[in-house]
Amino acid sequence: MKVFIAGGRGRVGSRLADNLEAKGIEVVPGGLEDGIDVISGKGLAEALVGVDTIVNVLNTPRFDAEGAISFFEGAIDNLTAEGRRAGVRHHIVLSIVGVGEGDASDIGYYLGKVAQEKAVRSGPIPATIIRATQFQSYIPVLADQHTMDGKVLAPRSFIQPVELDEVVELLAEAVTTLEPGSVVEIAGPDRFYLDDLFRATLADRGDDRAVVTVDGQEAPGAMVPRGAYRKGLVRYPIAGIPTA
Ligand SMILES: NC(=O)c1ccc[n+]([C@@H]2O[C@H](COP(=O)([O-])OP(=O)(O)OC[C@H]3O[C@@H](n4cnc5c(N)ncnc54)[C@H](OP(=O)(O)O)[C@@H]3O)[C@@H](O)[C@H]2O)c1
Repeated sequence: MKVFIAGGRGRVGSRLADNLEAKGIEVVPGGLEDGIDVISGKGLAEALVGVDTIVNVLNTPRFDAEGAISFFEGAIDNLTAEGRRAGVRHHIVLSIVGVGEGDASDIGYYLGKVAQEKAVRSGPIPATIIRATQFQSYIPVLADQHTMDGKVLAPRSFIQPVELDEVVELLAEAVTTLEPGSVVEIAGPDRFYLDDLFRATLADRGDDRAVVTVDGQEAPGAMVPRGAYRKGLVRYPIAGIPTA
């Protein structure tokens, strides 16, 4: 089996490449530093020769709707067009729990992920969507994104962060055993309130930014699973945070 990982040198992609290679699966990493640009299409046709499965773990720094939608949708269009020509049988996309549920958020980045899901579902290659909650290691970055004028602004919404390697293992399972057509969600073992989680995480890092609880626009449960999901076993690395 030969697997093309779009974004294969990134946070998720590099760990997935190691995981698949340890299982004896041939991996073709597809990132800019590999000479592949999924947006212009440069290098894609050559890289996809003999590939059975595409795993799409691409990311963009564009958080505005226009930028995120054009990146995530454009990448799917190019990957599916070249993938189909190459005879790819399965296209797996990593998305985020809660996007596309209607009330998740009007944040531009999430609209990009909604567009990504729609594009892969309606594309010609049978698709699987894996939706993960926020990675545990990503919480400090999320706190930075919520920072305004030196204060971390957080609604009292739910968050259920998952350990990255458990997401990687699920992606590897999607490659080796899942039938195309599934949507599988994964979340961590514990559900917290976002403001509590930020306070504990910043305190643990000796970061003295204040966390201010604010009214959230979105539903408090917008970013946690609503239906069946795989529950990770790895607990958040800071003990004693009240669960929600
Ligand atoms: N962070 C979270 O908590 C979380 C939770 C759930 C789902 N996710 C999803 O997980 C996915 C992967 O995230 P990540 O943190 O692993 O991202 P990342 O570390 O930023 O990696 C993204 C990769 O995309 C590649 N890339 C960007 N533009 C490209 C282009 N035009 N052509 C080819 N490659 C390109 C980059 O390649 P170069 O390195 O060569 O630039 C990079 O390797 C994202 O789609 C995100 O939505 C994240």
